[in-house]
Amino acid sequence: MKIAQFSRIGFIMAAAGSAVGLGNIWKFPYMTGEYGGGAFVLVYLITIAFVGFSVMVAEMLIGALGRKDTVGSFERLAPPDKKGWKYAGFMGFNGLIIMTFYSVVIGWIFYYLFKLSSALPTSTETAKATFDNLVANEPGVQIFWHTVATLIVTYIVYRGIKGGIEKINLILMPALMMILFGMLFYAFSLDGFSKAFSFMFEPDWSKLNSEAIVRAVGHSFFTLSLGMGAIMTYAASLPKHTSITQTAFIVTFMDTLIALVAGLVIYTFLFQEGAPAAQGPGLVFISLPVVLSNFGYIGTFLALLFFLALSFAGLTSAVSLVEPVVQYIIDRFDTTRLKAVLIAGSAYYIVGIGALLSYTKAWGETFSIAGKPLFDILEYTTDSILLPLGGLLIAVFVGYVLQKERVRSALAHEMGDRYFAVWRFSIRYVAPIALVFMMLNLMGVLKI
Ligand code: TRP
Repeated sequence: MKIAQFSRIGFIMAAAGSAVGLGNIWKFPYMTGEYGGGAFVLVYLITIAFVGFSVMVAEMLIGALGRKDTVGSFERLAPPDKKGWKYAGFMGFNGLIIMTFYSVVIGWIFYYLFKLSSALPTSTETAKATFDNLVANEPGVQIFWHTVATLIVTYIVYRGIKGGIEKINLILMPALMMILFGMLFYAFSLDGFSKAFSFMFEPDWSKLNSEAIVRAVGHSFFTLSLGMGAIMTYAASLPKHTSITQTAFIVTFMDTLIALVAGLVIYTFLFQEGAPAAQGPGLVFISLPVVLSNFGYIGTFLALLFFLALSFAGLTSAVSLVEPVVQYIIDRFDTTRLKAVLIAGSAYYIVGIGALLSYTKAWGETFSIAGKPLFDILEYTTDSILLPLGGLLIAVFVGYVLQKERVRSALAHEMGDRYFAVWRFSIRYVAPIALVFMMLNLMGVLKI
């Protein structure tokens, strides 16, 4: 099958759209709060600079040279005696695992958009009750919004790389950035801003433990959409003569910038009202609406804008989670895009229902394993095990399996020889060591 090509700006927006997601606006801020602020942020930034960026270049390279679905690209690029590497391409299927809970969270956001437009909760108790009630007692409502999210995402993917994914990203990404930067400017004018700034950028090392480090490394992969073949799949449609290094840099930069802006905005509002930082996953669903209710009309307006931005971020990432499997199915089984989308869509949709039920009172136990809700298991496994593993496979493949000359001729003219050597060192040593270290540590944290 011939894969359609992005335009250059379309590719940048689509890759940035994949990277900028719930990970940036929902997860990064609450993890920063949970793990104590500045020190966590610093570990995250260091990992992005020294590991994430290099792996992004490597992942794009596999796609751009392979020009096929994830399995096909690994297979085509592996030397004849190492064709087993094609199995690494099955990392694309992790996208569906992520989608099981990602779609549920997008559903929550839709519900909030709809709900908050009438009134913001004025106390933490009511806000918490609303969120807890939705999650624990309203499987029907959640299934409804999970269905809406699934229909939108699968429709965009069904329209394909050009007519769906590129188009939607070219509209939603600029809109998202305008909303967030607009909110940042507003945050500047509030007293809470300086507190938010020092919370995020002044490390308190006493708060840093090995769990925080593991989570920061895992999150830097999640937020950059690495280790699962999403970026690889998009790069298979990279327009010719586009610099991989430069695009990877722009995407990494935008993703990091938006996470920091989202964190600053949320913590400014929070500290403005004297609320504490550690709020957990409920941060944007519970604390933010209450805090904003103190801002009167402008608060409702800001809340709607915020959830709108969040839904845009979620949708543009979700399509990148589904597309790899869809391309794989189209390529392998020579079927239509419609059929491929229906298969991939129903797979994650059904398991997603299990994930949301695992948080409910009525069904929680049925959908838990060893006392852990399915939702958490799916999230933890992808974020902390499968993505780093995928990242490791990508680093080893590009660093050791692909012929050096091939890699050099693709990248050295973009980077210059000296930087190429630095990048290659990072891909061969720094990234694998960091990832193995992280996985070992993780086993310690999990006590397996
Ligand atoms: N990066 C997205 C976020 O921050 C999520 C995401 C999209 C993703 N595609 C991915 C994560 C591929 C890992 C792999 O929300």
